[in-house]
Amino acid sequence: MTDHYAVIGNPIAHSLSPTIHTLFATQTQQDLIYTAVLADNNQFAMCIQHLQDQGFKGANVTVPFKEEAFRLATQCTERANQAKAVNTLSFHDDGSITGDNTDGIGLVRDLTQNIKFNITNKCILIIGAGGAARGIIPVLLKEQPAKLYITNRTKQRALDLVNDFANLGEINIVAWDENNQQPYDLIINATSLSLHNDDTNFPICRITTDSGCYDLVYGKQHNVFLEWGKSLGAKWCIDGLGMLVEQAAEAFSIWRGIHPQTQPVLQYLLNRK
Ligand code: ATR
Repeated sequence: MTDHYAVIGNPIAHSLSPTIHTLFATQTQQDLIYTAVLADNNQFAMCIQHLQDQGFKGANVTVPFKEEAFRLATQCTERANQAKAVNTLSFHDDGSITGDNTDGIGLVRDLTQNIKFNITNKCILIIGAGGAARGIIPVLLKEQPAKLYITNRTKQRALDLVNDFANLGEINIVAWDENNQQPYDLIINATSLSLHNDDTNFPICRITTDSGCYDLVYGKQHNVFLEWGKSLGAKWCIDGLGMLVEQAAEAFSIWRGIHPQTQPVLQYLLNRK
């Protein structure tokens, strides 16, 4: 029998998730259909109930519903509880729902396996302190970077985040307008700046010819963050397409018990660009 899954968001029309999961299903010979569902901003819970009523087995959740999905899930995995956000829901026969968050592991796998960047003992700066930053920090800390820094336009949000994650490891706050001379091995953009390509300055920070710049956002023709990194001479500047494929592979493996190969799917998407 064919199993059904969906990705729910708003907007959702340009989501690559249906393509990615359909390629995974073909590759692993799993009998499933994966569709994109647009939910009104105040109708997420209703939409999930509808999918459950129709016998769907699970769903991915994207902007702006990840925090709501966390609240809706009957139980959550440790990494979802840490992030307080959920991007993968599994629907069970008794009506209960398990929430998980595969974003952090998706980023770490893209960095370590695809980009061959070893996080351990590296100096990392995260720009942004919203939901996207919260999703990746617990998993990044597990990789034991030498130092993890965070900077955010609104300092209080950075302070709150550091406070919330205090039991997971040390996170150092850098003021947004501080002329900080610390050289970073990796700078991650977790703000929404490149999503809208806002014409705003990034914080002053030292990028060297050894630094990498990674944007959690993917698929932008022009990406203000990556262009900023390039203009300052960064060694490499890469968007979050690989993370998207890796987080999807982890979700697929949660649902189907089989981890698909990600390289062929990533190459397919890169060739399509
Ligand atoms: P998400 O869940 O995608 O992380 P969010 O919680 O709204 O979304 O967080 C957006 C992030 O982008 C925040 O770090 C935000 O900074 P503030 O906390 O100061 O709002 C950052 N951001 C958005 N627009 C920005 C801008 N024009 N300049 C600098 N930072 C910006």
